[in-house]
Amino acid sequence: MRVTSASFKPSTISRFIVLEGVNGAGKTTLQARMAEFLKAHAQKVVTTREPGSTNLGRTLRTLVLEREGEPPTEMAELFLFAADRAQHVARVIRPAIEAGSWVISDRYFYSTAAFQGYGRGIDHKVINKVNTLAVSGTYPDLVILLDLDPEAGLKRTRSREAQGAKAGVDSFESETLAFHKRIREGFLRIADESPQPFLILDASLPPEEISAQVTPILDWLLKNAKATHE
Ligand code: TYD
Repeated sequence: MRVTSASFKPSTISRFIVLEGVNGAGKTTLQARMAEFLKAHAQKVVTTREPGSTNLGRTLRTLVLEREGEPPTEMAELFLFAADRAQHVARVIRPAIEAGSWVISDRYFYSTAAFQGYGRGIDHKVINKVNTLAVSGTYPDLVILLDLDPEAGLKRTRSREAQGAKAGVDSFESETLAFHKRIREGFLRIADESPQPFLILDASLPPEEISAQVTPILDWLLKNAKATHE
């Protein structure tokens, strides 16, 4: 369901926030700014991402994104992301939440729904089943969707790579523009259909303006998380 910073008032707060969007939407920058804000308010914060935030996940990330030799089939790809997520939830996300940290994850199961579902065309019922198994009941308080025209996103990642930020274009970045357009539209539909609240932000805005739109929400969460945990 879509929310605004004014309407977002969850009844329970688990301190788990997810960032989603097409490649190059600016999730990493926003994640760093949100973590900084929370740390400045004396909070413990774990910033993490999918795929590749556990030892097993790092191996899976190479298999699924670098695809040397034999590329995975679409179904194998779905299971590789799901395996990464199951490990991530059990080894990183849940322990951090239980230790009283905030967790901000760059991508979660919504990316599987967008990329493997809307992008690759795997049946949504199959995707939902696999996602439900992988997250085993761990859902975020809020998903922030950085919505961006995929052409602008790909331009950003390519110029970053040209400046040496990341070695090589991963298998998804080299997909067609039509693929990335399906991902963008997919994310917007996922936002409408999801029971979890989605805040949709215009990722073409400057990073300061995007963080400024998120600050009131973080303020509200901080105040109310304190009230329920003290
Ligand atoms: P990454 O380099 O982390 O890209 P980004 O900065 O855009 O997150 O690569 C992750 C890629 O994997 C990205 O193109 C999205 C894709 N992906 C899926 O296809 N399914 C998934 O479930 C996840 C988590 C990511």
